[in-house]
Amino acid sequence: MLLRKAAVKTSTIIIIALVLVVIAAIAGYYAGAAVAPAAPTTPPPKPQLIIYHWWTAGGEKEAIDAVFDVFKKANPEIEIVENPVAGGAGAVMKAVIWGLLASGTPPDTFQVHAGGELKEYVDAGYLDVVDSVWEELGLEDVIPETLQAMCKFEGHYYAVPINVHRSNVLWYNPKIFNELGIIDKFGDPRTWDLDTFIEVARYIKENKPDVAPIAMASRNKWPLTHLFEVLLVLRGGPEVYAKFWTGMFDYKNSADPVWAAVKDVLKALAIMAQEGLFNANHPELTWDQAAALVYQGKAAMYVHGDWVAGYFMSVEAKYGEEWSAAPFPKAVFILLSDSFNMPKNAPHPDAVKAWLKAVGSSEGQEKFNLIKGSIPARVDVAPAYPDPYRPETADDFKKSTLVPSAVHGGISKEAFVTEMHNIVTSLVTSAATGADIDTLVDASTTQIMQAIDRTGLPDFWKGYTIDYFITKR
Ligand code: GAL
Repeated sequence: MLLRKAAVKTSTIIIIALVLVVIAAIAGYYAGAAVAPAAPTTPPPKPQLIIYHWWTAGGEKEAIDAVFDVFKKANPEIEIVENPVAGGAGAVMKAVIWGLLASGTPPDTFQVHAGGELKEYVDAGYLDVVDSVWEELGLEDVIPETLQAMCKFEGHYYAVPINVHRSNVLWYNPKIFNELGIIDKFGDPRTWDLDTFIEVARYIKENKPDVAPIAMASRNKWPLTHLFEVLLVLRGGPEVYAKFWTGMFDYKNSADPVWAAVKDVLKALAIMAQEGLFNANHPELTWDQAAALVYQGKAAMYVHGDWVAGYFMSVEAKYGEEWSAAPFPKAVFILLSDSFNMPKNAPHPDAVKAWLKAVGSSEGQEKFNLIKGSIPARVDVAPAYPDPYRPETADDFKKSTLVPSAVHGGISKEAFVTEMHNIVTSLVTSAATGADIDTLVDASTTQIMQAIDRTGLPDFWKGYTIDYFITKR
């Protein structure tokens, strides 16, 4: 009996001991888990900003880098994944972006011109609204209405603009101008008309045959169309210009006054090509290589946008000695604006918002524009410009009549502008071979008429009137 009791007691003790061991083990496991070093796992991905832009030339690259610095200071944890696609005016990048958007793999943000170019992405349903950034930064108080309208479609903002560039500027070599007495003889280039411009070019060729009167770069075609757009404002004025690029005129009727101006400009381009007024190697050059000809004294004049000022500063060309600039014509300001957006399903929306805030900030705009050759989109930012060109153009922006650029995405439809690149390039190429100019101009005019029709240009701005495109001063 005693023996049995003792046996029961022993087995009870063993059971209790076992239970305690198990409890201790479980407690130990959990306690241990709380302090044990975490098993190695992959760290959470670093937040990124995947951005596309085409600023790779002198001045452009330094300018965007300055905004990246502003962004990095405020967002050190975000890695910038930069995708620069060389090719001025987005000649190459735009196709890349349309491909990414169509395949459902949008970047976080990309460079886009305010106006028609932006509208095409909005119409296609690829972009998110960015009203909240505009509100947070109070941008409506500091961005002029003309530019607001170019960023706003169907009542919403779809982009934040970083700058205002001017497309119509005559860059010239002051030494050559002084030597030939160009301004004494022909007056201030700010007031020249189309005939005077050709007369000056001929005069330069006659008196300095080793210098190209007009610098040109047609490797990417668009600088030729750029010259066309500036000469169209010069010859026809802002209204004819706006009607042409929007297709808001009786374009099937060759007697419409818009055609008279267009034909004069086509003729001018053909004359320039036929009489050798461009540098002969223009089909090989990019826009910045043509600009280089001016400060090097190999060309006398260049009609191009004011990113040329950014380029000249980047190569330390001396204002007043190696380059000078005249708004051309002064009374009109053909504007364009680079902006950034937020595609739908952008992989890192918080990073995009932070980026758009840097783009719209006073600091971002000041640093970018000082280097870029443009003026800030914000009127409350007044950088200390190192060149006398910008204060003049900043003043003109308030006082001259404004119209958006066609070649730089402001007023027209991409498909039509692309057709214009081809038409103008083939006109110039044929004219250079000695073909009859009037025949060429007639053929180009017919091609343009067909292109207006084929690309559906007049439908692009349905619901808008011509007044929307012109800020009269
Ligand atoms: C324009 C752009 C400018 C300038 C230029 C040459 O379309 O708006 O910022 O970079 O192309 O690339």
